[in-house]
Amino acid sequence: MSSLKDKRIVIIGGSAGIGLQTAKEASRRGAKVVIAGRTLERLKTAADEIGGKVETYQVDATTEAGIKAFFSRVGPFDHLTVLVPSAPDKSLSSKLGLFLDMEPATFDTVFRNRFWSQCWAARYGAPHMSKEGSIVFMSSSQPRKTIPRYSASCAAAGAIESLARILAIELAPIRVNVIAPGFIQTPGTDHIPPERRAMWDKIAQAQPVKRLGEVQEIAEGMLFLMENGFATGTTLDIDGGYRFT
Ligand SMILES: NC(=O)c1ccc[n+]([C@@H]2O[C@H](COP(=O)([O-])OP(=O)(O)OC[C@H]3O[C@@H](n4cnc5c(N)ncnc54)[C@H](OP(=O)(O)O)[C@@H]3O)[C@@H](O)[C@H]2O)c1
Repeated sequence: MSSLKDKRIVIIGGSAGIGLQTAKEASRRGAKVVIAGRTLERLKTAADEIGGKVETYQVDATTEAGIKAFFSRVGPFDHLTVLVPSAPDKSLSSKLGLFLDMEPATFDTVFRNRFWSQCWAARYGAPHMSKEGSIVFMSSSQPRKTIPRYSASCAAAGAIESLARILAIELAPIRVNVIAPGFIQTPGTDHIPPERRAMWDKIAQAQPVKRLGEVQEIAEGMLFLMENGFATGTTLDIDGGYRFT
């Protein structure tokens, strides 16, 4: 039986992509799932897809006040993950560029999406978590690579990995781990501009596992880190071997 049975799992960004698949898989293993995101309609559709008893909350995870209010509404729970993409829409994606060409505000927004959403969630979520619970932070393969044009998201992902190691000690016995996916095909990646899409395809062919990853492969990794009571301070790379290319 899964150790997630009857545990309450909060998935911010649980209405699409990796988060939605994680919610489905957690629910299948008997967990009580709480999904959150900005769009009510998306949350409702996702809850219908997950089936069973799913709680939905509207939140913008990029504001400290929003996150703080969210956790006071959610109350006690066991596991947490926050899955705000670095560049959740086309308008931001198209602004990513070489470091000196990029508007400083773009760098700031990427950090708010990738780093601050997770940092504030840990800060305001941890006091509501059970001692048996865990946090799974979202990183990516980027901190293990040098990819031009990805300076902001790479730096933000590196920062979250560093934070995780300290929190694994400070928040114990709550466990804190990180998952670092490679290039995963999700509905959310459909907006990537054509030239970056071409780069993704090239990357996929160059890596040992010659394809993009699937959401189920990341969802299983996330739930492994939640279920395994001996895993803490760990970063789990699930990237098709991209980091070796
Ligand atoms: N796909 C990849 O290749 C890949 C690789 C490495 C890491 N990751 C990371 O994995 C996570 C999930 O990626 P994905 O591709 O599955 O994303 P996705 O399909 O675009 O889904 C993103 C989810 O986050 C929610 N969201 C977006 N902005 C939010 C905000 N400000 N506050 C609260 N919720 C917000 C979205 O709902 P609303 O839009 O309604 O808010 C949606 O539920 C992200 O952190 C991403 O950076 C992805």
